[in-house]
Amino acid sequence: MSNLTPISFAETDLEAIAGHLGRVAVFIDAEGKLDPGARRVNRLTKGAIARLIESERWSKLKDGDSLSLAYPAGMAADAVDVIRIERNAKGMAARKAGAALAKTRGGSADLLLLCAPLRHAHEVVYGLAMRDYAFEQHKSAESTRTGAVVVMTGKPEALKDACAPLLAVAEGAHMCRDLTNEPANVLTTTNYAERLKEMESLGLKVEILDEKALAKLGMRTLLSVGQGSDSPSYVVAMRWDGSKKDEAPLALVGKGVVFDTGGISLKPGAGMEDMTMDMGGSAVVAGVMRTLALRGAKANVVGLVGIVENMPSGKASRPGDVVTTMKGDTVENINTDAEGRLVLCDVMWYAQEKYKPAAMIDLATLTGAIIIGLGHENAGVFSNNTSFCNDFLKAAETEGEGAWRMPMGDGYDKLLKSRIADMKNVGGRAAGSITAAQFLGRFVKEDCPWIHLDIAGVASVKSETALAPVGATGWGVASLNRLIADNYEAE
Ligand code: BES
Ligand code: MN
Ligand code: ZN
Repeated sequence: MSNLTPISFAETDLEAIAGHLGRVAVFIDAEGKLDPGARRVNRLTKGAIARLIESERWSKLKDGDSLSLAYPAGMAADAVDVIRIERNAKGMAARKAGAALAKTRGGSADLLLLCAPLRHAHEVVYGLAMRDYAFEQHKSAESTRTGAVVVMTGKPEALKDACAPLLAVAEGAHMCRDLTNEPANVLTTTNYAERLKEMESLGLKVEILDEKALAKLGMRTLLSVGQGSDSPSYVVAMRWDGSKKDEAPLALVGKGVVFDTGGISLKPGAGMEDMTMDMGGSAVVAGVMRTLALRGAKANVVGLVGIVENMPSGKASRPGDVVTTMKGDTVENINTDAEGRLVLCDVMWYAQEKYKPAAMIDLATLTGAIIIGLGHENAGVFSNNTSFCNDFLKAAETEGEGAWRMPMGDGYDKLLKSRIADMKNVGGRAAGSITAAQFLGRFVKEDCPWIHLDIAGVASVKSETALAPVGATGWGVASLNRLIADNYEAE
């Protein structure tokens, strides 16, 4: 089922403009040249568009900004949105214009886009689809988000085709946001696994490993995180085999802590509710898998998520406990709040043992320290392979998702030395995000190109971003999809 606003495509029909309800959007470049659609709106409104583009306010608009005419005489619409945009605007400029339209529309009004003058209308539509999101599942009032979007242009079929893969990304990002926004009493570990299983209807192969299976595989560190919770732990593997060739897959691994209390090393109460988003890494993995399936990507990708809840109880792990990983190394659990790495290390090891991936990327809301370092603008990027890392950074740059490479090295690795086990799960206050990455790096095989994305600062935010409202952003779905499209689908 699609969770996007319905968007349909039609040939420009000048006769239909006057009677369209809701809002009508026209696109005009800096020179103020009107295309036939804008000319028609201008004529219907007895020259209001022409006056608007001669006004001082118009001359002060930046590219992508807009002005609105309310209740225009001569039209049935409630408003005309006039967007200042270059005809060949693309990338973020075009996307932001679409996002601005989604915002002014607020989800409720029908919207007609007169896109004929735009060379990259698909990017405007994509920006609109990405920004047109609200998490309303738990509002008791009936949703007002009922409006539909009609895109008029010269070649509607071609535009529809150009939009299809982008709308698949928007759907993946929206799914990622829905999961990340969902509270932990609703998105329990079992509910989460069930939701992922539902993606089989898209052609993905989804396998759920329960606690019995995980114990048999030896994923004791993952199980040690979940053992304080009444909700069972799972690993879910989602496979998309879109390449005709028998290629080794790209493995995506996600941290899926549905709630992180810190465990016995309990977090302070203030702000703890934010830890419903501690499954954000796994939600990106799920969102990417959805996108790949929806657009029929010609690549082999396997997404694996470790789903657990970190709770304090009589059965919970204690600080000082020593547990053995699936790999066989032992870990002294100094701080039960450093649980994400304990989940990931077993899933990453399993991913390599079982799928022999060509490369591996893990995503996790792993450390508060990455927020201190990079704020909410950039995810931390850690890698053992510069060319692979650069491929990702380029994809992220193209998609306008902030990503910044961080260092790794033996000096940091030493900080994980334990007196009684092979390693500790924390390295002290210094370089907290890097020592977390070093911990994970110990579970990456020598020849496996690997990227670790610490998304604690970007997965869910308190002020809106270019293409997302406050709350879960869906950061990473577009970049990873782009990485796959550019590097794993070459025929
Ligand atoms: N889930 C948190 C990290 C986090 C913090 C995510 C803020 C999103 C926003 C993680 O499990 C955690 O608690 N990390 C500890 C590690 C420490 C104990 C070494 C942290 O960052 O304080
Ligand atoms: Mn924690
Ligand atoms: Zn956590």
